[in-house]
Amino acid sequence: MSQRERFALSGTVEVPGDKSIGHRACLLGAISEGVTTVTGLSSGADNESTLSCLEQLGVDVDRRSPGVVRVNGHGLKGAFTSVSELDCGNSGTTMRLLAGLLCGRPGRFCLVGDASLTRRPMRRVAMPLLGLGADVRTTESGTAPLNIEGHALRGGEVKLETASAQVKSAVLLAGLHADGPTTIRFDAQTRDHTERMLDYSGVPLRAGVEHGRRFCALTPPERLLARDWVIPGDPSSAAFWIAAALLCEGSELRIRDVCVNPTRMGFVEALLAMGADIELGLVRPSCGEPVADIIVRHGPLRGFVLNPADVPRLIDELPLLALLASTAEGETLITGAQELAMKESDRLSSTAELLSTLGVAPRRLEGGWHIIGTGAEQRLRGGTVRTHGDHRIALCALVAGLVTSTPVLLDDEDAIRISYPTFRAELNRQLRASA
Ligand code: S3P
Repeated sequence: MSQRERFALSGTVEVPGDKSIGHRACLLGAISEGVTTVTGLSSGADNESTLSCLEQLGVDVDRRSPGVVRVNGHGLKGAFTSVSELDCGNSGTTMRLLAGLLCGRPGRFCLVGDASLTRRPMRRVAMPLLGLGADVRTTESGTAPLNIEGHALRGGEVKLETASAQVKSAVLLAGLHADGPTTIRFDAQTRDHTERMLDYSGVPLRAGVEHGRRFCALTPPERLLARDWVIPGDPSSAAFWIAAALLCEGSELRIRDVCVNPTRMGFVEALLAMGADIELGLVRPSCGEPVADIIVRHGPLRGFVLNPADVPRLIDELPLLALLASTAEGETLITGAQELAMKESDRLSSTAELLSTLGVAPRRLEGGWHIIGTGAEQRLRGGTVRTHGDHRIALCALVAGLVTSTPVLLDDEDAIRISYPTFRAELNRQLRASA
């Protein structure tokens, strides 16, 4: 073990606004009547991709001050400018939700993205939209560019094969433009922000379970009126602070105003099952979402077995959970996460590679890993991490570097700009304060 300094994190931190809710607030603003003010929008490149697509579509977007944006809506029936290269950057949510939003409106749109987004599966969103009569075409291999010829849609019943909030949301946004009700049937509960936000906007919507399957049914409204949105902290960004505090001896951290929507709490619940000391403060409602402070204290973790049914509620936190499992006492089994291969990088591989660099090579399983933790006595080792341009792998590596025996270097630290551009600076500030 080397003599690297050890840090304790204490006090209070704030995290960027929830990325998923941020995308949806801006998109709903664009199809509402009136001006939508979005407060607390993340400055990450992903939310910026949505804003810049809306601008290319002719939507007036007024960036008021950091985190505050006003979107001048075109209403449900107003026109958007046709665009031959609508650049969604690295953002799968931008591309898939825009596909749903645009396919029921007149115009021609071609959605493109960066190299990572161009590798990701898009047939999963094109197929259900075709079910509503939309004209959305992928390449032969089912990827972007996505060509959309917008026209009137018919409401109907859509069965989803993939556990994906992006696909479900795309169908809901398309359903807003259809000539009658749309019902979506699916198995796994994925994040439900679109449902909550539509409900908060007054759109008639029902959700529940029927014949053992989940459903969500929407009746298109005549008009959608602009609402203001205050975006709560992103639990997927809070996760990096939770992990940092759990790892660093003597830490006690309060993370303020985080979205604690149950469909996003899988990570916290898994950590509680691993013996973590985490508490929620008073839960209050904000724009249809529950919000609370999260208080986390350092302590040892024990290995555990993840129920594959819980995967959708912690899908973005799995690399971090695998990192924490690597320091836990005992073995951890994570399975059922095949979807991880479809993310910004193939996270089944990039996470395994990250852990191997840190000296804990996991055994690869179908949709997951078998991880034997080091336990509290032994430290992870440092090294150079390949991020594969993936923001969550880069952020994970920065957190790991707090407790490794030698420093962790990143081949591309800039990747963090996608969801959490200020993380490194805020971490440094915390470390200086605790030095
Ligand atoms: C998201 C849904 C999830 C998640 C992504 C954001 C959303 O993707 O991984 O980071 O905002 O709806 P899938 O819908 O592909 O599961």
